[in-house]
Amino acid sequence: MAATNSSKNKLQDKVAIITGGASGIGEATALLFAEYGARVVVIADIQDEKGRNLVNSIGTQRSTYIRCDVTDESQVKSLVETTVQLYSGLDIMFCNAGTATTHRFQTVTDFDFDSYEKVFAVNVRGVVASVKHAARAMIDGGQKGSIICTSSIAASTGGEKSMDYVMSKCAVLGLMKSTSMQLGGHGIRVNCVSPGAVVTPLLCRAYGGESSTEMVEKMVESSSYMKGALKLKHVAEAVAFLASDDSEFVNGHNLVVDGGFKPPKI
Ligand SMILES: NC(=O)c1ccc[n+]([C@@H]2O[C@H](COP(=O)([O-])OP(=O)(O)OC[C@H]3O[C@@H](n4cnc5c(N)ncnc54)[C@H](O)[C@@H]3O)[C@@H](O)[C@H]2O)c1
Repeated sequence: MAATNSSKNKLQDKVAIITGGASGIGEATALLFAEYGARVVVIADIQDEKGRNLVNSIGTQRSTYIRCDVTDESQVKSLVETTVQLYSGLDIMFCNAGTATTHRFQTVTDFDFDSYEKVFAVNVRGVVASVKHAARAMIDGGQKGSIICTSSIAASTGGEKSMDYVMSKCAVLGLMKSTSMQLGGHGIRVNCVSPGAVVTPLLCRAYGGESSTEMVEKMVESSSYMKGALKLKHVAEAVAFLASDDSEFVNGHNLVVDGGFKPPKI
């Protein structure tokens, strides 16, 4: 079989939005989308300086930064409308912005509803708004599209401490499954990527911010059966696969990227 778009140009001509695109998984994915030939990568985030620096490193012809707090639906609507106006369409929406438990030991007997609401505002409300407005734009534009949401391995394993985070990522899976059924007939695919632990500012904060990056990486290494640690590039490659026509009949799928989850020894 001839090699086609699994090459460097698998995202050629595509217009993509990445929420939470200024850091971690979103940043790595933005860089990879540009490498794979995306026409434009729109970085949507609330970290303005990081977002603008990333745009400068990709190049202002092929990337732009739009400040967008995903918890505010009107900002998400405006993000999508501006993108469509500027670039005449939207092909890929990566709904990736996320936050971790703010109350460190979020167990049911000591459940902190303020933490739960903050986590759900970003991880669930923000993702629903992103899928909603991306889907509307794709349907109105009569174009096929790929929507990818970031869930987590935590949605499959559960978690002893960060219960609100775990629940939020389960909700993302439910959203993805339901919308994949609603949108498939329009030629719009909806899938999830579910990373295992990977070193980012979010994960370091989840470990309480007290551990060094090296210590967090050691903990990450011990959570899979593979040699070495899960890297941002591994997750970004999975997202690029789901974004591209390489996965043109993959819909409603949760792509776990965790090196084979290794439960803690008991
Ligand atoms: N790092 C991990 O181990 C891991 C594992 C599984 C899933 N995830 C998920 O991956 C996604 C990306 O996280 P990351 O680990 O790269 O962390 P990160 O902190 O590096 O990136 C998260 C980004 O989301 C942005 N963000 C937060 N709230 C926002 C808001 N209201 N509006 C817009 N942007 C907002 C942040 O500014 C940041 O740039 C999250 O959904 C996270 O839950 C991470």
